[in-house]
Amino acid sequence: MQSFTFHSPTEIIFGRGAEDHVAEKLRAYGASRILILYGGGSVVASGLLSRIEKNLTSVGLAFLVIGGVRPNPRVSLVREAIREGVAADVNFVLGVGGGSVIDSAKAVAHGIASPHVDIWDIWTHKAPLEKTTPFGSVLTIPAAGSEVSDSAVLTNEDTGRKLGLNTPLNRPLVAFMNPALAFTLPRAQIAAGASDIMMHTMERYFTNVKEPNVFTDRVSAALIRTVMECAERLLVSRKDYDAMSELMWCGSVSHSGFTELGRCKDFSVHKLGHELSARFDSTHAMTLTALWASWARHVYQYDPARFAQFAADIFGVNAGTDEERTRAGIRRMEEFFASIEMPTSLAGLGIGTLTKGTIEELAGAATANDTVRLGSFHPLTRADAAAIYTAANH
Ligand code: NZQ
Ligand code: ZN
Repeated sequence: MQSFTFHSPTEIIFGRGAEDHVAEKLRAYGASRILILYGGGSVVASGLLSRIEKNLTSVGLAFLVIGGVRPNPRVSLVREAIREGVAADVNFVLGVGGGSVIDSAKAVAHGIASPHVDIWDIWTHKAPLEKTTPFGSVLTIPAAGSEVSDSAVLTNEDTGRKLGLNTPLNRPLVAFMNPALAFTLPRAQIAAGASDIMMHTMERYFTNVKEPNVFTDRVSAALIRTVMECAERLLVSRKDYDAMSELMWCGSVSHSGFTELGRCKDFSVHKLGHELSARFDSTHAMTLTALWASWARHVYQYDPARFAQFAADIFGVNAGTDEERTRAGIRRMEEFFASIEMPTSLAGLGIGTLTKGTIEELAGAATANDTVRLGSFHPLTRADAAAIYTAANH
């Protein structure tokens, strides 16, 4: 295995009633003026937001509440929240929601710490990110893994770009994770969340590192199989606490970096997917499942043995040549995504059939006009990216 450094500093408070500890924990972290960020209203409807507000009020902590974060979160709302947070002299940012809210909370925390720098300049590396404001989250959906990850993704509606920023400063201080808070999720979001969690591990499983990495491989396979099983259970019964607990914990482990230890991640499908979200506002995980099989069929030739191992690890496909097992593994994964009603081609995103010109634009944007290679399993050129979009374009 390759050498590594792993630092995952987020304190995790997991289980029923986790959110009841918000006030006590935030006070312990020195918070006195808190900015609470939330999304489109699910946390208002469920009563979660008012419970947190009461909890904070009961210990005399001041807070300011800003809602309206949308999926594929926009930088404009982040800028507005930074302005309000600076004016209120906020010293802790708490995201209450999913990946979009938590990613926005990360950006707001960075922006409050550097109020004279535009946050998009930080996002595009025009300005350095040197400090942040303490932040954490109350998670309401097992999916993006932002509650522990070192990344955050924002969309700039003026430039039409959706970009991730990876930095240790994106690791939250604390995450409150009560699986029961996710009982109100619509079925489609459960399926999307499960798919994103699987993809976070698959994008690390397919690596160009050839040294053996037995433990990480086994953890990865166990995680993917657990998520598949729990997603199926939850689509039958959304209030299965045990299944939701497994899914929520897998979501964090999957994107904490733990499943890439000793190797190098790929994440090219994510980058291709972000271009679709930026252009069509498509749900993140739907872009991933729409593209994955096309990516896999495009790149497996560079290491068919790895794909054959994947087929064996995940689906128990042990018979046949590497090529036969590879094809079976990709087909079985595609069938799984279809079985939980996730798209397996671009048509499933509801964006129609793309023209050749649009595909060229997407491939150009993803690769910065062929100046950047995507991923590591087989670094993708603009031509590779266009071929993958084209293969998925039905
Ligand atoms: O906005 P509200 O009303 O809260 O509704 C949300 C939203 O419509 C709803 N929802 C969340 N919890 C709910 C609920 N509805 C009912 N009951 C609940 N308990 O779910 C919808 C989706 O929310 P969102 O936060 O967008 O979902 P997710 O967690 O999948 O986050 C997706 C975003 O995270 C980014 C994606 O690109 C996308 O922008 N990612 C962030 C990553 C990171 N920071 O590490 C990694 C990922 O790969 C991903 O790129
Ligand atoms: Zn993802």
